[in-house]
Amino acid sequence: MIYDALPLSLLAIIFLFFGALPGAVADPLASRIDWLPRFRPSTHFVDLQQRTTRSGINYNPNGSAFVWLQQDEYSGKTFFDKWTYFTDPDPTQGHVNYVNQSTAIAKNYTYVQADGTVIMKADNTSTLPLGAYRDSVRITSTTKYNTGLFILDLNRAPWGCAIWPAFWTVGDNWPANGEIDILEGVHDNEHNQIAWHTNPGCLLDPNAIFTGTIPNDSGVNRTNCDANVDSNSGCDVVEWSRASYGPYFEAQGGGVLAMKWDENDISVWSFFRAAIPADVAAGTPSPASWGPPSAMLKNTQCNITTYFAWHSIVFDITFCGEWAGNSYATTNCPGTCDERLMDPTNFDNATWSINSLKVYRKQLLAGNGTLTAAARTTSGTLNISKIVLPVLVMALLSIVW
Ligand SMILES: *[C@@H]1O[C@H](CO)[C@@H](O)[C@H](O)[C@H]1NC(C)=O
Ligand SMILES: *[C@@H]1O[C@H](CO)[C@@H](O)[C@H](O)[C@H]1NC(C)=O
Ligand SMILES: *[C@@H]1O[C@H](CO)[C@@H](O)[C@H](O)[C@H]1NC(C)=O
Ligand SMILES: *[C@@H]1O[C@H](CO)[C@@H](O)[C@H](O)[C@H]1NC(C)=O
Ligand SMILES: *[C@@H]1O[C@H](CO)[C@@H](O)[C@H](O)[C@H]1NC(C)=O
Ligand SMILES: *[C@@H]1O[C@H](CO)[C@@H](O)[C@H](O)[C@H]1NC(C)=O
Ligand SMILES: *[C@@H]1O[C@H](CO)[C@@H](O)[C@H](O)[C@H]1NC(C)=O
Ligand SMILES: *[C@@H]1O[C@H](CO)[C@@H](O)[C@H](O)[C@H]1NC(C)=O
Ligand SMILES: *[C@@H]1O[C@H](CO)[C@@H](O)[C@H](O)[C@H]1NC(C)=O
Ligand SMILES: *[C@@H]1O[C@H](CO)[C@@H](O)[C@H](O)[C@H]1NC(C)=O
Repeated sequence: MIYDALPLSLLAIIFLFFGALPGAVADPLASRIDWLPRFRPSTHFVDLQQRTTRSGINYNPNGSAFVWLQQDEYSGKTFFDKWTYFTDPDPTQGHVNYVNQSTAIAKNYTYVQADGTVIMKADNTSTLPLGAYRDSVRITSTTKYNTGLFILDLNRAPWGCAIWPAFWTVGDNWPANGEIDILEGVHDNEHNQIAWHTNPGCLLDPNAIFTGTIPNDSGVNRTNCDANVDSNSGCDVVEWSRASYGPYFEAQGGGVLAMKWDENDISVWSFFRAAIPADVAAGTPSPASWGPPSAMLKNTQCNITTYFAWHSIVFDITFCGEWAGNSYATTNCPGTCDERLMDPTNFDNATWSINSLKVYRKQLLAGNGTLTAAARTTSGTLNISKIVLPVLVMALLSIVW
C-alpha cells in the first residue's frame, strides 16, 4: 500500500487530524458489501463537526468540545422494564391488534432469550379469517429524551409482504414536537427510509452532507417535513445500501443504527455487523469519526430546537395501513394485503431481535478534556471515572505517538 512509503510523522498527523487512517476504509469487505458509510475526506476540512481526535472528543460548530456519555441502556432481562404497551387502534390505519403487556408475555410476542437477546414479534401461529386484524406489539419508552445519541444494535428487523415495522422517536402533541423515523420499511424493501415529520416550517437541506437520496413524488423532492402536506409523507432520505432493510439486512446479521440528535442536526448512520466502529462497541461513541451519515436534517433550514422536543422511543410492527396497504398493489407481493394477513407463516419474519439500545447524552467539556463545573455537579448520573480516565489515557497515547 501507498502508506508504507509515507514517513511515520506524516501518518501521525493524518491520524490526529482525521481521527482515523484513510486506509481504515480500504477494508477488504468494503468492496463486497455496500453498507459502509461513504467516506468523504474533503468534508473533514470544512465541517468542524467532523473534527475529532482519537480520544472520542467531538466539537460543536462553535469549537466547543464535548463527549457522548451513556445515560440509559435497554438490554437483556431488564429490557422491557421501562416501556408501556400501546393498545389503541393504529393511528396509521394498520390492520393490527396491538396487545397489552400481559398478553404479549403470555403469547410470547415479547420476551428475552436465555442469551439476553430481546425478541418482539407478531402473532405467527394464528390463522385468521379474511379482514381480521393480526396481533402484534407497539412499545413506547417511559423515559423521554430532549436530544441524545441513540444506538440500536439489532440482529434482525421485521420485513415481508404486508409488514410495516418502525423504530422511531416522537414527542407529545404530534406533530408539534416532531417525529424521527430511524428504521422503517415495508414489504420486501431493501433500503431503509429515514424520515422526519414536523409542524410547518421545517425543511430538509439537500446540501447537507449525507450519503442517502431524497425520494420524490412525481419529481417533487420530499424535502418538506410538514406533516400536513403530501399525506404526511414527511421529509425523507432513502439509504443507498440494499442491505439497510429487509432480507439482506437480516442475512448479514443486522447491525447498528445510530441516531444523533442535537441542536445542530439530526443524523442517522447505519453500520452492517462486520463494520461496527470500535468506539461504538466500546461504549464510547464518537460520531465525528464515522464519516458522513446516511441521512441528515440540518439546522440550516429547520430549527431543530423549535421542531423537536422530549421524545419517547417507539418500536412497532404493523400491517397494511397507510404505507404498507396503499403500496401493496405496486409490489411483487401476492393477492391483497388483507389476504396476506390470513396465513400465520407469512409472519415468520415479523420479528425484532435486539442486542441493546443505548442512549447517550452530550456532555460539554471545558477546554481540552476537563469536565465543566456543571458536569461535576451532576455526578448522580455521571460516572467520572468512565470519562476522565479514557480521555486522559487517550490524550497520553496521542502525545506518546
Ligand atoms: C457552543 O455551541 C453549543 C451547541 O452546539 C452550546 O451548547 C455551547 O453553549 C456553545 N458554546 C459557546 C461558548 O458559545
Ligand atoms: C390484556 O388484554 C387481555 C385481552 O384483551 C385482557 O383480557 C386483559 O384484561 C388485559 N390485561 C390488562 C392488565 O389490561
Ligand atoms: C411461550 O414460551 C414458553 C417457553 O419457551 C413455552 O413454554 C410456552 O408454551 C410458550 N407459549 C406460547 C403461547 O407459545
Ligand atoms: C425522482 O426519483 C427517481 C427515483 O425514485 C429518480 O430516478 C428521479 O431522477 C427523481 N427525479 C428528480 C427530479 O429528482
Ligand atoms: C431534486 O433533487 C435532485 C437530486 O436528487 C436535484 O437534482 C433536483 O434539482 C431537485 N429538484 C428540486 C426541485 O429541488
Ligand atoms: C432556533 O430557535 C430558537 C428559539 O427561537 C433560537 O434561540 C435559536 O437561535 C434558533 N436556532 C437557529 C439555529 O436558528
Ligand atoms: C423469511 O426469511 C427467510 C430467510 O430470508 C426467507 O427464506 C423466507 O421466505 C421469509 N419468509 C417470509 C414469509 O417472508
Ligand atoms: C414464528 O416466528 C419465530 C420468530 O421468527 C420463529 O422462531 C418460529 O419458528 C415461527 N413459527 C412458529 C410456528 O412459531
Ligand atoms: C485546546 O487545544 C488547542 C489545540 O491543541 C489549543 O489551541 C487551545 O489553546 C487549547 N485550549 C485549552 C483551553 O487548553
Ligand atoms: C464507574 O465506572 C467504573 C469503570 O467502568 C466502574 O468500575 C464503577 O463501578 C462505576 N461506578 C459507578 C458508581 O457506577
